[in-house]
Amino acid sequence: MTPKVIIDCDPGHDDAIAIMMAGRLTEVLGITTVSGNAPLNLTTENALIMTELLDLDVDVHAGADRPLLLAPRHAAEAHGRTGLDGPVRPEITLEVASNDAVAFIIETVRNNDDVWLVPIGPLTNIALALRQAPDIVDRVAGVSIMGGSAGAGNVTATGEFNLWADPHAASIVFDAGFKKLLMAGLNLTHQFGIDKQLISDLRDLRNRAGIFAADLFDFYLASYQKRTHGERAPLHDPCAILAVTHPGLFRFESRNVRVETEGTHTRGMTVVDERGWGEGPLNCEVEYSIDRDQGMRVFLEAVSAYT
Ligand code: BDR
Ligand code: CA
Repeated sequence: MTPKVIIDCDPGHDDAIAIMMAGRLTEVLGITTVSGNAPLNLTTENALIMTELLDLDVDVHAGADRPLLLAPRHAAEAHGRTGLDGPVRPEITLEVASNDAVAFIIETVRNNDDVWLVPIGPLTNIALALRQAPDIVDRVAGVSIMGGSAGAGNVTATGEFNLWADPHAASIVFDAGFKKLLMAGLNLTHQFGIDKQLISDLRDLRNRAGIFAADLFDFYLASYQKRTHGERAPLHDPCAILAVTHPGLFRFESRNVRVETEGTHTRGMTVVDERGWGEGPLNCEVEYSIDRDQGMRVFLEAVSAYT
């Protein structure tokens, strides 16, 4: 059965690719946007660029323009000022369906069985939805997050961007008691990297989606290599889609995971209890490995399915 998803995102190059994949591998019930890689007006415009470019019949709802308690922070060093630097920015005619992403999430989960929430930006919208409507915890099929890490961070030594940007929201989500909470953290997404070969494979598809993805990756790979000297740039957000559509590609371990909201040096850290005998509930399925080659094949096939 094709999974039904709501993508909560802050495009972002990898968010844009996640939307592209989801458009062919899932039934996307809606896209909600949040302040993150860029300010909300830009992440929302970027989501609209993707739905228009891909001709997806999916509404975009704008959400929170700031984290719950902290000041908004963005990631221009990775994604450029627009959040989607690189390709020529397409003109768009589409407009948002609403400015109330939280209401859309609550209503859609209440009115549809087995919805997956796929948050791939800061968790502000999801936390606000949980506060207003705690009943959605038991209604959803699960939550598949890109965020956190069972290992190193990226903004700081321990903080991954999405959780670091709004740790208070993340803490609400991790503590909510979802029956399935999947975490694609940096320890996992760094195994799912794109390189020059993949970019050339995308160009060879010779369709609009493939060329746009290749243009996005030219910028994303160069900006990643400049900052880290790494060879492959991690394709973070699509991992959260694949965890729903192709769970067999992953190795999961049930863990207790809590989010640090107060630490002096550990803001937004996911504290993953790997002892095996800790007392906390096993609230999270942490992803530890992915079959990269097979995952990339799935990705290329999804992109090639666009005209
Ligand atoms: C996460 O932060 C953003 O920059 C990416 O879009 C991804 O969701 C990786 O830390
Ligand atoms: Ca993102």
